[in-house]
Amino acid sequence: MLEDGKDTLPARPNKTKAKMPNAKQRARAEELAAEIRRHDDLYYQNDAPELTDAQYDLLRRELVELEDQFPALQAKDSPTQQVGAVPASGFATAPHRSPMLSLDNAMTEDEMRAFDVRVQKALSTENAASSNPEDVAYVAEPKLDGSGIELIYENGRFKQGLTRGDGRTGEDVTVNLEQIASIPQKLATGARPKFASVRGEIVLPLAAFEELNQARIERDQRPFENPRNAAAGSLRQIHDVDLIRLRSLEFRAYALEEGRPNGCTKQSEILNVLRDWGFIVSPEIEICRGIGKAIAFHERLLQLRGKLPVEIDGTVFKIDDVAKQDTLGSLARAPRWAIAFKFPPEQAETVLEGIDIQVGRTGALTPVARLRPVRVGGVTVSNASLHNQDELERKDLRIGDRIVIQRAGDVIPQVVRVRLDFRRKALAEGFRLERPAPTTHCPICSTRAVRLEGEAITRCANLDCPAQLKNNLRHLASRGALDVDGLGAKLVDQLVEAKLVTRLSDVFALELAQLADLERMAQKSAQNLMASLERARQTTLPRFLIALGIRHVGATVAELLADHFGSLEGLLAAKPTKIAAIEGIGPIIAESVGRFLEDASNQAEIARFEELGLVIVVPESRTPSDASKRPQPLDGLTFVLTGTLSRPRGEWKSLIEAAGGKVTGSVSRKTNYVVAGSDPGSKVTTAAKLDVEILDEAGIEALLSAR
Ligand code: IVH
Repeated sequence: MLEDGKDTLPARPNKTKAKMPNAKQRARAEELAAEIRRHDDLYYQNDAPELTDAQYDLLRRELVELEDQFPALQAKDSPTQQVGAVPASGFATAPHRSPMLSLDNAMTEDEMRAFDVRVQKALSTENAASSNPEDVAYVAEPKLDGSGIELIYENGRFKQGLTRGDGRTGEDVTVNLEQIASIPQKLATGARPKFASVRGEIVLPLAAFEELNQARIERDQRPFENPRNAAAGSLRQIHDVDLIRLRSLEFRAYALEEGRPNGCTKQSEILNVLRDWGFIVSPEIEICRGIGKAIAFHERLLQLRGKLPVEIDGTVFKIDDVAKQDTLGSLARAPRWAIAFKFPPEQAETVLEGIDIQVGRTGALTPVARLRPVRVGGVTVSNASLHNQDELERKDLRIGDRIVIQRAGDVIPQVVRVRLDFRRKALAEGFRLERPAPTTHCPICSTRAVRLEGEAITRCANLDCPAQLKNNLRHLASRGALDVDGLGAKLVDQLVEAKLVTRLSDVFALELAQLADLERMAQKSAQNLMASLERARQTTLPRFLIALGIRHVGATVAELLADHFGSLEGLLAAKPTKIAAIEGIGPIIAESVGRFLEDASNQAEIARFEELGLVIVVPESRTPSDASKRPQPLDGLTFVLTGTLSRPRGEWKSLIEAAGGKVTGSVSRKTNYVVAGSDPGSKVTTAAKLDVEILDEAGIEALLSAR
């Protein structure tokens, strides 16, 4: 899922005369939409994607094609209609003064030459068919694999930083950016414009990425998949901001959207200005005259790629002359004067040592190729997903085969093909290469595997399967669900294996002494976990619904359900038809939710969560839509919480929201009050700078009691 996919797409023209989908097609579209939403959540909310870009694109493409064929399937809220990084985190959002565009991609030399021909044509006015058009000068820059960002400078001072967001509106992450050393607080030298918009990429250098992941593994937290996700996640930290992690980020500048000094008429000159102002600009930049030189540069950069300190995934070529850029102009999505020439996926050869079966949260049994470890794209790879049984059969693999694997832009590697020449030779030499056995049983609990009609996935049907329980518990603890800090993968394994947790709700029955008895568990960590669990007991309805691990219920569906029913009781009492009637929830999701809630053991689980102290705080704004709209004391007011407060932040947030207010993560001009506890940090400084009123706890209590 690259930046490129995230733009809002124009509505597609409705060419065919309304052909109606049958039930199967309708169901497939529902399923795809739900899957895409789930993966969007994993990507944007949790920075933990499960799919490669290519796999994600396949899902999207299938849905786009279905909707093209049957326009009736195209729901207003279909993910095909609202692509984009949903501002998820509680940061305030702000519009970009001009859209942050994406780039068109070229994958092959031919596509690059075609781009150059288009450019030449657009630039040559009279003699478009001239046999000897002038070579165009392109600036070649590494395509940095990070997170796009816009920095606003007023009178040379850093004012505001926005993530790219959906290209039109971004998240205001100024407070976090203020910690990054490579973002100058003041522009260094030269003519400083009154207003400048500097654009570039936040990247996490590979060395820092390795270090960060090592530290995460030691703290029992899930490591980041790649530097891009780690950078995006670090940038958008809100609670308990890890400064070391933030400070390891690097900003590299590549564009000046506004504030170009007089006389600066070329992209290459802009890069020099940015460097003079104190920004890091990638050193591997060259002016290439003509497409031949551009392609040669790209090949050289590819050779250099593995030695660079940051991850790059191609070369960006921009017409050097800004006046010529203007002649070409931009389309809604991307400029016509630039292109990203992507690197081919990195491939390597290794030996297939076996096939393991992984058990997913919903019991999905996924075959995974166990590989002889091999370096590809800067990382050592020892397994590759084979997705499902059909895929395994299609690839026709044998244990012991020599295979080609690839890693494209992300770290989840794929098996490309078998070296049949090697297989033939091995067979001729008398080696036996066995076909992998089909998946008939769950490798963990040995229950018979089932595969439903029309489904590609084989599943373990045992809901008490320890592997599923582990995955569900990890999911319950994740950031988008109950956010239990310190409950990482290793601890989950220990809890399930020691049978301290045999069903999800057990996690709230844990006692300090039990935790402290676990191997490698220090008293302090046990206490911290108890404190995290205590915090997690106060939650919201959407978070609880996500935590339950109901199939197809990610953040979007959970919000829809919570908005509609207002309370857990309301949802539990709902007839399945009522769930299916909610806009944005189709029959597949409705059935999945209905079936989950009908199940007596699930009902008992929900009741037990509540018995064990889980409290769902219902913000007033979430009551059913027909609730009378009384004016609220904090209506229209925006708050930022900072420092150590006497109650958990979640509780303050719920109280403020229940009184009509809004809580965001960072201080901006739109903030009305900053509520500061002890050790408040930089938010108070920012508030003072922006003239935002600062309250202590007594102050906010006074506002709240003005009901
Ligand atoms: S120029 C209008 N230059 O790639 C021009 N973008 O796939 C748009 N990117 O959103 C940006 N390295 O986040 C530009 N040297 C570079 C880049 C670069 C990485 C990112 C950027 C953009 C995305 C498009």
